[in-house]
Amino acid sequence: MEIIVNDNVEEMGRAAARVVARTLNCKPNAVLGLATGSTPLTLYQELVRLHNEEGLDFSQVTTFNLDEYVGLTRKDAQSYHYFMHENLFKHINIATQNIYIPSGTTDNYEAFCKWYEQRIVECGGIDLQILGIGSDGHIAFNEPSSSLGSRTRIKTLARQTIEDNARFFDSAEAVPVYAITMGVGTILEARQIMLLANGRNKAKAVAEAIEGPVTSMITASALQLHSDVLYVIDRESARELKMLDYYEWVQTKMPDAP
Ligand code: PGA
Repeated sequence: MEIIVNDNVEEMGRAAARVVARTLNCKPNAVLGLATGSTPLTLYQELVRLHNEEGLDFSQVTTFNLDEYVGLTRKDAQSYHYFMHENLFKHINIATQNIYIPSGTTDNYEAFCKWYEQRIVECGGIDLQILGIGSDGHIAFNEPSSSLGSRTRIKTLARQTIEDNARFFDSAEAVPVYAITMGVGTILEARQIMLLANGRNKAKAVAEAIEGPVTSMITASALQLHSDVLYVIDRESARELKMLDYYEWVQTKMPDAP
């Protein structure tokens, strides 16, 4: 586990983009797991800049998104299909056939979820999974009490998540109640995981995820079971970490490590 604490979200986006770029430099046909929400926006902006100004190449990259609202079409401005297209895909040279996002409008969710899991495996598994974290400690839409072995499936969103996400909709009533989401078990199979968090309202969830017990009540805490997790977070969201001094000390000592 490694933690990089940044002074602001722009710096956070640059630090996270360096990790993605390093992955693509080592493996140009890498499989990336992608997240939506406000947290990864500066990362996506920086990836677009690296593509335009430094030739970061996505032509062989495959992506799998974490989740999608049930009932929203890909043209709906609140759908995660739309979000990904607007904030990343339309600005880079990724091949359309290499983009996978759960469908919010399939007529057979069970079959779709099975197929999605199977496609991840057929594409070689996820090399780098990007995650945000909910104020209730969720990763993807794995709400508190989700099985830590869960796979891609339909979830009923928690009231807290609906309230948190209401800012993107006209009202809380307009937020879909169901989502299709990768499971905690699916996420844990990624080779490397990078969780991003910023803002004071994430501080409790971040501390519980990193330093609390592993529990389905904070699904991000399951990342403690993974051997290669990087947290790229800002100072506000790091405020409740008891071992913050140590994590920063580790970063300063990193260049001299044997
Ligand atoms: P946010 O969402 O980036 O919009 O805060 C994160 C999440 O709920 O996982």
